[in-house]
Amino acid sequence: MYGMVHRAARELAILRHGEGKWNSIAERAGVSEREFISAEVFSDAVTISIVSAVADADGSPIDQTLLELGRHWIDFAGRSAYSNVMGMAGDTLPEFCRNLDRMHTSIQATMPDAIMPSFEVETMDDTGITLIYRSQRTGLETFVQGLLEGLMARFKVDGAVSRVDDAHPVRFRLTYKPV
Ligand code: HEM
Repeated sequence: MYGMVHRAARELAILRHGEGKWNSIAERAGVSEREFISAEVFSDAVTISIVSAVADADGSPIDQTLLELGRHWIDFAGRSAYSNVMGMAGDTLPEFCRNLDRMHTSIQATMPDAIMPSFEVETMDDTGITLIYRSQRTGLETFVQGLLEGLMARFKVDGAVSRVDDAHPVRFRLTYKPV
């Protein structure tokens, strides 16, 4: 994945554990400054190695760290050079969900080697949204869960995110709390 993703993981780790601990996390992951160049692309093995080292420092299973990285990504990307791209994707949660693929496609113009996921709105009503997530990768479901939780927080929607079942493609339900 692009170094930008690694930067988000580094920022999360430093927020948690401080700058002092970061060097040992990077050492454990086997990475140097190079892996944090935003516009360079690295194999997914490097990304997983960084997230695993952060999870070790957290003392959590990797899925827990992926969940938190997903939540953090929304905040991180919202402060990045791509904040305007995020802003244009929608002013409400439903609109944003409908535009996720368009948003990633426009990002791909500057990150041509990215392998982007796809999100399809299956149903949408007053009680929530069902989203279908498709990816060439496996094992990122908790990352997606965190991203969707982060989006609910971004739009100040009170509710919860859950995985619908174990079937593929993976479906997530964003449930709004009744007002
Ligand atoms: C401006 C905001 C965003 C930027 C710049 C961005 C950019 C990226 C980049 C660079 C990757 C890595 C792909 C690669 O290197 O091969 C990625 C992956 C991903 N993005 Fe986004 N993204 C943004 C927002 C979002 C949001 C809001 C979601 C919410 C659902 C999302 C869902 C994902 C997922 C699930 C992946 C993992 C790839 C996979 O599942 O195969 N992204 N994105």
